[in-house]
Amino acid sequence: MPEPLPVAFTLSATEGQARTGRIDTHRGEIRTPAFMPVGTAATVKAMYPEQVRETGADILLGNTYHLMLRPGAERVASLGGLHDFMDWQRPILTDSGGFQVMSLAKLRRMTERGVTFRSHVDGSSHELTPERSIEIQTLLDSDIIMQLDECISLPAERKEMERAMELSLRWGERSKAAFGDQPQRALFGIVQGGDDPELRARSAAGLRSIGFDGYAVGGLAVGEPQEVMFRVLSEITPELPSDRPRYLMGVGKPDDILGAIARGIDMFDCVHPTRAGRHGHIYTRFGVLNLKNARHKDDPRPVDETSPNRNCRRFSRAYLHHLVRTEEILGAMILSQINLSYYQELVDGARQAIAEGRFEDFAAATRAGWSAGDL
Ligand code: GUN
Repeated sequence: MPEPLPVAFTLSATEGQARTGRIDTHRGEIRTPAFMPVGTAATVKAMYPEQVRETGADILLGNTYHLMLRPGAERVASLGGLHDFMDWQRPILTDSGGFQVMSLAKLRRMTERGVTFRSHVDGSSHELTPERSIEIQTLLDSDIIMQLDECISLPAERKEMERAMELSLRWGERSKAAFGDQPQRALFGIVQGGDDPELRARSAAGLRSIGFDGYAVGGLAVGEPQEVMFRVLSEITPELPSDRPRYLMGVGKPDDILGAIARGIDMFDCVHPTRAGRHGHIYTRFGVLNLKNARHKDDPRPVDETSPNRNCRRFSRAYLHHLVRTEEILGAMILSQINLSYYQELVDGARQAIAEGRFEDFAAATRAGWSAGDL
């Protein structure tokens, strides 16, 4: 068999800090700015893989933490890897597990070596070290692997932000050594440092000198206001190599995504569109609609009759309201599809606008649409 193609990033246009381009992998192209739907447990909840693709997604996100607990990384590997297991043959990025341990696991203990914790599923004990996280992500056959890091919530003491940032840097170095030479996959480092400009700059400089295929910004959307997140992004993206992709982890709402693209971010992931859909909220060009609300009970209008997405034209608001109120499975399926389609429409619009040098106008018009509509 020929060697699989190495991962490569190519920029095709920039406008201010905003950029558009592509990441090529042996499993296909990722157009940037990219939104990655979250497929935590080897499924984007309530969606068939081909439906996810039809929304326009080039890449999915999977989670080390969930998959190591169930069904187990070795089991996925013996079944042919994550792509075959879930039948998604395009690129997959996997998060390293640290963030999910902090938010989900019980009895966590952080040491220099790694993090030990008890499973939120059955209470069993586990350890995740930088080396084991790389091993698990390799067993899953992930295309983009994340270093293990420590993400703390904000606000936090400077000493605490500094400790977590420095630990993450040392774990970045160990991750790089454990990753070795695997040109068919990429390894991304993660910038930490809370809301402190000097700590963020030190984190970026440290990661740059280790050398990664891409650079993520972690530790944001953890309780700080949007203006703080935007300030950190404005300060940090100039500190990252311009010829590598930049990924803002766990973000966000459509408005966060537009603001982060304007500040030089290329990749995003967030559970929000699918989770909000399962709770009855949909994103449209005219803003957010809460379909649980009783005012939709008798409304025969579709969600958006001018949308390119058939589901927005096909079903009445009254019907969707009924599905949501009765907690029907089809409601979760349709609403997840509508939200993921809208997110992909948003990043596709951004890509085209940057390519044509009109991103600023695109962002302003998109934001105006959210508040101008008759919902
Ligand atoms: N997902 C959202 N934020 C983070 C972060 O800071 N680190 C990791 N590993 N994953 C995240």
